[in-house]
Formats: sequence, structure tokens, C-alpha cells
Amino acid sequence: KVINNIRNFSIIAHIDHGKSTLADRLIQSCGGLSERELKDQVLDSMDLERERGITIKAQSVTLDYHANDGETYQLNFIDTPGHVDFSYEVSRSLYACEGALLVVDAAQGVEAQSVANCYTAIEQGLEVLPVLNKMDLPQADPDKVAHEVEEIIGLDATDACQVSAKSGLGIDALLERLVRDIPPPKGDPEKPLQALIIDSWFDNYLGVVSLVRIFDGVLKKGDKIRILSTGRDWQANEVGIFTPLRKETDILRAGEVGFVVAGIKDIQGAPVGDTISHAKTPDVKRLPGFQKVKPQVYAGMFPVSADDYEDFRDALEKLALNDASLDYEPENSDALGFGFRVGFLGTLHMEIVQERLEREYDLDLLTTAPTVVYELAMKNGDVSYVSNPSKLPDMADVEEMREPIVRASILVPQEFVGNVISECELRRGTQKDMLFLGSQIQLTYELPMSEVVMDFFDRLKSISKGYASLEYNFERFEAAKLVRLDVLINGDRVDALAVIIHRDHAHSRGRVLVEKMKELIPRQMFDVAIQAAIGGQVVARSTVKALRKNVTAKCYGGDMTRKKKLLEKQKAGKKRMKQVGRVEIPQDAFLAVLKVN
Ligand code: GTP
Repeated sequence: KVINNIRNFSIIAHIDHGKSTLADRLIQSCGGLSERELKDQVLDSMDLERERGITIKAQSVTLDYHANDGETYQLNFIDTPGHVDFSYEVSRSLYACEGALLVVDAAQGVEAQSVANCYTAIEQGLEVLPVLNKMDLPQADPDKVAHEVEEIIGLDATDACQVSAKSGLGIDALLERLVRDIPPPKGDPEKPLQALIIDSWFDNYLGVVSLVRIFDGVLKKGDKIRILSTGRDWQANEVGIFTPLRKETDILRAGEVGFVVAGIKDIQGAPVGDTISHAKTPDVKRLPGFQKVKPQVYAGMFPVSADDYEDFRDALEKLALNDASLDYEPENSDALGFGFRVGFLGTLHMEIVQERLEREYDLDLLTTAPTVVYELAMKNGDVSYVSNPSKLPDMADVEEMREPIVRASILVPQEFVGNVISECELRRGTQKDMLFLGSQIQLTYELPMSEVVMDFFDRLKSISKGYASLEYNFERFEAAKLVRLDVLINGDRVDALAVIIHRDHAHSRGRVLVEKMKELIPRQMFDVAIQAAIGGQVVARSTVKALRKNVTAKCYGGDMTRKKKLLEKQKAGKKRMKQVGRVEIPQDAFLAVLKVN
């Protein structure tokens, strides 16, 4: 039966361990694209991803592999992102697979993120094959790394595939192993159609395109299909696979992965995790779908020009279809006007969303400092949640303020463990466990989430020469001495600059914050006083001195071209600034708090 020759798999890998390179190599080996056509990295197709070198969205590729047993296998590779912010996307792609390749850089060893994703795969019942990559490098130490895979993950790695995605070494053996060890999907083409939407995105020409895994039945072009959550019926206009280019095959059978376009224009019409059946078989059950992920950090986003508000709202709506973790609601700031409070998985996710909105939707946006969600126990017995410092209620009504605590697992080579421990202590961490695993150490800490989501990951990387890796999960809310630090510009409190911090850090961070802002706020025609205050009490202040006369004098001189140039320069610089009272505040100043540790 055809289904026995299907293999659905994902690749789990830490960033930079070579997932995209390996995927390209597999595509090339199976004749998906010629070497010439094989642009750098086919799978990382979004510009943004290519520049940052990280994979964000799950995509799929269908390949034909002619195996040594004479059979032709259909390999469906579903891509997964590697960064700590995006692990929810991983479990979603794994749901559609029977197996996964765990790719580990043989010169680097196992990293925390791939450990977490690997556990998810094992929990979901997938067959996980360890693959040691970068075997062409002289530093490659496959025995050591195989040992780590066994110790840290508990997978037998004695005969793990050793490959070089770059040179092509070991790729044929890997493909043979893949078809031998990864089981074929289960499913019955004779049963009524039951398909899962793994991903949906909006295409300007086609409308909504959905990546689907067919569990039972057959989906053909022209079929009348039903989206089970909405109960609405549509006609499947296009059905096919990605090779990685979109190719119409007009049919998808049980076990297969491919796309369907059904003229859905309403962007909520085909939600990720939903089930598709035929309109004529109304009794098909909904598949379990995916757990909705909760955003961990929130930030205000405001259009620099108030005229862009409607466009901004439309753009968020479109982006949210493609990114189930994105959460937003309207927000109104005294200083910044109308915008949205947007929830993200982490600060990298926040940066990427801002960049996508600006690039793909041509918007100029200003983002306020990210904040985690706090729990408030009110004196009247209510419990509420706050994700916006300026929306904190009157503290006289609050019994207790609680901050989110995460359990973080950090893998780091022994030589850097001291640095990592000091950094965790500095961030109010409590050590829970310390394990020696081969040449690495696994540290388990409980840390306030606010300390982790800011620049912790970057710090870890820099104090460990890039070797430390991090994985964390929300544990609980815990009472803490928290205060709101207000920032006043020329005596006026600017709501969008307020932050919630621990009382013990309030004075020192307040001082660093005003100093940072002083560097970031451009000089104006008058002195600008920057103050940090808690309650009514000012804890730090500094001043941006007015421009000296002789500098401004040039503007008033008779030289028109120079004056024009200056104005143009100002205009360009203005792009990411917001007028607050009489003072222009640039984007960086709003994010200054991220840099005060
Ligand atoms: P993300 O897309 O960010 O998750 O990274 P990735 O895991 O897909 O890594 P990618 O394929 O982009 O590879 C990271 C770097 O390692 C690139 O510079 C590759 O050229 C290099 N690389 C990948 N495979 C090999 C290999 O087998 N040998 C050597 N020497 N370098 C490799």
C-alpha cells in the first residue's frame, strides 16, 4: 500500500547545528532541486530569517527517495524553528510526524533547547534518530557527543549516523536509516477525510494557504470541505505539495502532508490546529489540535504616525493568523496615543514581529519596554493580572504583588560554570540542581521571569563564549517586593516609559536608566530633565543639556542648501521618534531598560 512508503519527519536541532544545511542536502540528494537552483537555504525563505539565520515558521518539503530496496519512498520533511522563543511551533510540527532527526553538531555537543524539543518528540511517540553533523570539521568528536546524547537525553547513540551536511558525507546512509527506522504513518484512505491544519498563512494572490496532514481519507481538488471549528464549507481549489516550490498534485491521501487553498479570504477562516473534513461527512471528530501558547511578555506598539493606526490593526490581524502565539488588544497611552498591547513569547519574538510589521506591511512602529505578567492579590479578595506598568491599580488596594518564576535549565561547559552561576545570582536566581554530564554541566535554577526574558540569553552567550544554552518554563507566581519605576521628562510622568522592578534594584537601576536615556535622547533647544521616581519620590535624575547657540546658529544662516540638508537629516532621524510634550524621544530610549543590567 502507498501509505507504507511514506515517511513524515522533522529535524530537531539547536541553532547553527546545521538543520537548514542538512535539509538542503536531503532535498538535493533526492533530486528536489539542482545544485544551481539550490539557493543558499531554500527552507529559510523569509528574508528576515535569512538575515538573522534563524528559522521561524514551520514549512514542509515532499521528496521522492529511491531506496536501496528498490522502492520509492515519499519523504515529507516538516521544518521546525530552533530558537528558545519558538518551541511551541516545534510541538506543532512534530504532531504531524512519525519520526525526527536529532541533529547535533559533533564539534559542539548537545544544547538545552534541542534536549527540550527532543523530549517533546519522545513524549509524542516519535522515533528519534540521533545524527552527528559537521563530521568534516577537525574538532568533531563523535564519541564524546554520542556519549552526551546518551547521558543527557537517554537515547542510544552508539550507531548514530555521522554526517557532514556541508560535504555530503554520510547522507545516503542517513536516508537509508530514515526509511528503515522511522515508521510509516497510520491512516485509512477509505475512511472519511480527517486532516489537521499544521499551519496557515495569508498569500496576497491565493488568500489563505493551509499546510495540512491527512490522517484519514483523501482530499481532492474540487472537493467540498468543511472547517470543523467554524462549520463553514469551502471548495478546495488547489491541492498539492511543496517540492519545496508549490506544486499542484490535485490529490492528498491518508498519511500525506501538503497544502490546500480553498478561496478562504477571511483570515480567521482556517485556524492552525483545526480539523478539515468533507462537507458530506459531518460526523468526523475534531483532532486534538494544539495547545494554545500563552504569551510571556507584553509590550505596547504604537504607529509613529497616527494615520497608520488602521493599517497597523489590519497587519496585526494578518500576522496573528500565521502566528498563533501573537496576542493583542487596543491600548491608549497619554504619551504615544492609540496603539496595541501585544503579547509575545519572548523578546526575540517581539523584535521579529516588529521587523515583520515594518517590512512586510510598511509601517513605522514604536515599541515600549517589554514586561511580564504580574499577579495581583487585591485586598477585596480578587485576583487580577497586569501586563502594563501604567495600568497598575492604586497600591493601597493591593494586598500582594506576585511575579512569574521560571524553572530554567542551562547547559554549559565546565570552564564557564562560575560565570553562569554569578549571573544567575545577580538576577535573583535560586539554584535547584547541578549535574555533571560528560564535559558539560546542567544547571537548574528558579529565576524571576522578568530577569530571564530581558537580555539573559544574550548575557549567557557572552559569558560562555557562545557555548551556554538555555531552556525555561513557567513554574508559578511568587510574592515579591515590586515597585513601579516612573520616568518623568521635564517633570511630566511618561506612561509609556514606566517599568515594574524589584525594590532592591530600584535605586541602582533607576540611576543607570536615566543615564542611559540621557545618552539616547537627542539634545534639544532647551534642557531636558530626566527623572526616575518611585511613588512620588525621585530616586535618580540627569539632564540632557540644551544645544549650544553656535550649533543652532547654523540653521538660521543664509546658506539654504545647508539648511535644507539639515532639515532632511532631521526628518530621516525622526522616523522612529515620538514627540512627548515638547521633547522628541527615540525608539531606543523606550527600550533603555533592557540594557540596564
Ligand atoms: P537555524 O536555521 O538558525 O536554526 O540554523 P541551522 O541549524 O539551520 O544551521 P545552518 O544549516 O544554517 O548551519 C549553521 C552553520 O553551520 C552554517 O554556517 C553552515 O554552513 C554550517 N554547517 C552546517 N553543516 C555543516 C557541516 O556539516 N560541516 C561544516 N563544517 N559546517 C556546517
